[in-house]
Amino acid sequence: MMLKYAIKTAAMLGLLGASSLLADNTAILEGQRSHPAVGQHGMVATSHSLATQVALEVLKNGGNAIDAAVTAGFALAVTQPRSGNIGGGGFMLVSSEKTGKVEAIDYREKAPRAAFETLFQDDNGEVVKERSRYSHLSAGVPGTVAGLALALEQYGTISLAEALAPAIKLASEGFIVPERFSKGLKSRHERLSKWEYGRNLFYKEYGGFYEAGERFVQTDLANTLRRIAEQGTKGFYEGETAELIVRDMQQNDGLITLQDLKSYQAIIRQPVHGTYRGHDIYSMSPPSSGGAHIVQILNMLEGYPMGEHGSNSSQSIHLMAEVMKRAYADRAEHLGDSDFVKVPLQGLTSKPYAEQLRADIDIGKATPSNTVRAGDPLPFESNETTHFSIADQYGNAVSNTYTINFSYGSGIAVPGAGFLLNNEMDDFSAKPGVANAYGLLGGEANKIEPEKRMLSSMSPTIVKKDGKNFLVTGSPGGSRIITTTLQVIMNIIDHRMNVQSAVNEPRIHHQWLPDEIRIEAGISRDTIKLLEDKGHKVVQKRAMGAIQSILIEDGTFYGAADPRRSTSSAQGY
Ligand code: GLY
Repeated sequence: MMLKYAIKTAAMLGLLGASSLLADNTAILEGQRSHPAVGQHGMVATSHSLATQVALEVLKNGGNAIDAAVTAGFALAVTQPRSGNIGGGGFMLVSSEKTGKVEAIDYREKAPRAAFETLFQDDNGEVVKERSRYSHLSAGVPGTVAGLALALEQYGTISLAEALAPAIKLASEGFIVPERFSKGLKSRHERLSKWEYGRNLFYKEYGGFYEAGERFVQTDLANTLRRIAEQGTKGFYEGETAELIVRDMQQNDGLITLQDLKSYQAIIRQPVHGTYRGHDIYSMSPPSSGGAHIVQILNMLEGYPMGEHGSNSSQSIHLMAEVMKRAYADRAEHLGDSDFVKVPLQGLTSKPYAEQLRADIDIGKATPSNTVRAGDPLPFESNETTHFSIADQYGNAVSNTYTINFSYGSGIAVPGAGFLLNNEMDDFSAKPGVANAYGLLGGEANKIEPEKRMLSSMSPTIVKKDGKNFLVTGSPGGSRIITTTLQVIMNIIDHRMNVQSAVNEPRIHHQWLPDEIRIEAGISRDTIKLLEDKGHKVVQKRAMGAIQSILIEDGTFYGAADPRRSTSSAQGY
């Protein structure tokens, strides 16, 4: 009754996207496909309808996709504290109409200067997960403010203050919370209320919960955002905000110093580029593993008639699982921050290397993961999170994925500053052979070093066709980001689905270890049986990812919000 009322209230207030009545983390079970949003001038797809609305307003006022993206990024930091952030980091791909190029902005968090390889091990060399996930040590130096500011400086047409204005309004005047917001805070009550400041920030007096349909105001956060609007990045990395972060660190054995904050820089990088059946694929380069492995997997799949095998048939899933396990074995061995380690990117993404890896795939039988080892790409030489996609009438497109790692990050909100700190340090390899929170293994290449960026799976991706922006996509989901993004690309190119169907389609995932194909609800029993006959272990778990995508065809923008998130919203005009 309560839920029905809340949904009705929020719907009347225009807060919910078209697919809002589908429950969180519920894979699509019905054969029913919803239609994509359609626009002639521009399109915005984000995980929160308020962020979509403020970004769309920027486009309607003549701003470009980058202006709208930065506006959405700050708005999500207010409306979606579980993943939208200024206390985390991420990656943005920009396809610029002016230069004709796709460039990447790396604003991934960095290890503080005082971090060291065995930071998360006790005296016996055992990894202490509490330390890498929920302590002040778990936070990397945040990159979001620097990254969004750099994007605007390089490609935008509006000021940082203009991009921040809607977020400041949403924080200071508050907004009506949807069911997902309320449920999220209830489910993480223990973690978030461990700290007095967070308890007062996210819960009512005496521990009461904000219910759907109620207003949530964030005065401290509004003031932090105002400092950025007034002073630029210095309003975050120096002065009052920096001092608030560092004071909290000092009082709780954290490592981040004023110097760490002041010296943080976002970096412009070349994205990974590959091709797939006549399309150009651009995705995130290291310190993310996303682009390298999307291209590597597509290269391997190009050797098979995936369109003929059909979407989610047992043969398709078998081949996808086989190539995924090979790519994730390589990830564990070869990937890290390329400013610190040599990542054999050219080899990993080369067609001949893919051909070599493909050679020992049995089209009728699963290869056990314990016999799959990382390959040697060197001779071929010459990574809760939220994603949004935006495209404009001028020919620009932005694909942005950013995160504080877990839902609500470390669970630690900076006293007086109103935002949560990431726990991204858990994405480093705390010790070779010990998996991180996503079950991902890592080695030497991703060990903790001072000022190093931790390996990511975030994969903001732009696909071009005939030189023009064609698909803008990306997803949250930890280790599943790569395979989620991959499947939307395949669903469009191989299986010729419309973008909403491509997003809705049930997903599968294999990450080498554990040796299992993880599937969403919606894969048929026949298919599962056929996969088991080939030697695969198949396990159905909760839904994966929340991919917000835009397809541009014949000058028309088709936006697809992922129904796996009840607040997702794609809107065009
Ligand atoms: N924190 C998840 C990732 O960056 O892959």
